[in-house]
Amino acid sequence: MKSISSKKLKGNILIPGDKSISHRLVILSSIAIGNSKIKGLLKSDDVMRTVEAMKGFGASINLSNTSNCFIDGIGLGGLAEPKTALDFGNSGTSARLIMGLCSSHPITTLFIGDTSLSMRPMQRVLNPLINFGSSFSLREDEFLPAILKGSISPIPFIFDLNEPSAQIKSAVLLGALNTPGITIVRDKFNTRDHTERLLELYGANISVKSKKSLKEISIKGIKDLKGIDVNVPGDPSSALFPIVAALICEDSDIMVKNVLINPTRDGAFEVLKEMGANINYLNHRIMAAEDVYDIRVKSSNLSGIDVPKKVSPTMIDDYPILAVAASMAKGKTCFRGIGELRLKESDRFNGILNLLKKNGVKVESNKDTITIHGKKQLKRGGIEISTNLDHRMAMSALVMGLISNKEVKIDNSKTIKTSFPNFYNLMIKIGAKLSKK
Ligand code: S3P
Repeated sequence: MKSISSKKLKGNILIPGDKSISHRLVILSSIAIGNSKIKGLLKSDDVMRTVEAMKGFGASINLSNTSNCFIDGIGLGGLAEPKTALDFGNSGTSARLIMGLCSSHPITTLFIGDTSLSMRPMQRVLNPLINFGSSFSLREDEFLPAILKGSISPIPFIFDLNEPSAQIKSAVLLGALNTPGITIVRDKFNTRDHTERLLELYGANISVKSKKSLKEISIKGIKDLKGIDVNVPGDPSSALFPIVAALICEDSDIMVKNVLINPTRDGAFEVLKEMGANINYLNHRIMAAEDVYDIRVKSSNLSGIDVPKKVSPTMIDDYPILAVAASMAKGKTCFRGIGELRLKESDRFNGILNLLKKNGVKVESNKDTITIHGKKQLKRGGIEISTNLDHRMAMSALVMGLISNKEVKIDNSKTIKTSFPNFYNLMIKIGAKLSKK
């Protein structure tokens, strides 16, 4: 796929369901009692990995032709031991959340994944789960394949999150559901809180207390969850691709509908507004215990800013597309404390540097900081970017092409289906010059 300089992006688009929430809805509906109806589930490759895994444990999941998904749960504690390895493809969220779930069930599960997932760290997720009484082994003590032997009689514990990872937090919370007594997780990083919000909807015995910047989440386990009827809000990280495109392409004015805005996820929106982005939130409503808006976006004159480390968990997936916005902003933008980006679907720290440098943008870096020297002018283009099986690097490169004199081409566009299957159609709909060849 490739893209080239575009102007006048116009029109309304509906953003597909949020990936994080879709994974969680499939997992929680599968272990609830009774039926759940999920409207607008994201049917991307990653979410389908969660669906297949939960079917492997015995849940009945019907993805109808409409946008609905019906799940008949097996009840808490009811996970059957899968007969074969569970293949999580590219999906870190599926693998890590499901590790948490399995850790408090008396079953042994084999986890495998694609080349990208098999290079991502797993020990930091599995180590805390040992406290429930589970045990594991990993290739080279760090990577998939993993074998996880869940606990026969799980034990609750207090866990201080020491990495800024919602996946690690959620793994422990999911393990806590089938554990008698009270498990406590303390989060000082303000990581995304969809698991907590959804657990309340399903009727879990959960309480969340905030003491200054520390959040304490307690779960009293062995309380049945009940099936729910729910609409999935649109994914803010997906929404940012057309949003940034409209901000940086001349004479644009688009409406992006159905976008989740959650304070633990909206860092990129706040940063863009601070840079001078013309973004307006309209038509507030609530879906899946989350705030949702339609967002109107117009072309804007952006200015560079300093983005501190402490906000990084609220925008962790969005640095690649923000880097593209920063390349068109006047002056310096500095992203601080972003070492975590090396552990994503690809090494995004180096991926961002490579994308910008190759396209003639001046950029500097040290251990965990990237500084981008932006200018409001079209970039060189005439480049091909290796996406390293990373959907967000692929879409960011294509948006970069929309502000480039010559084409920007990516080596692999299949990976976009990981999170945003209709990216191409929606971008074409607003007038972006993308081409499949
Ligand atoms: C996710 C958490 C984040 C994020 C990932 C989805 C989640 O990962 O990067 O895309 O759904 O909990 P970390 O928890 O590793 O930061």
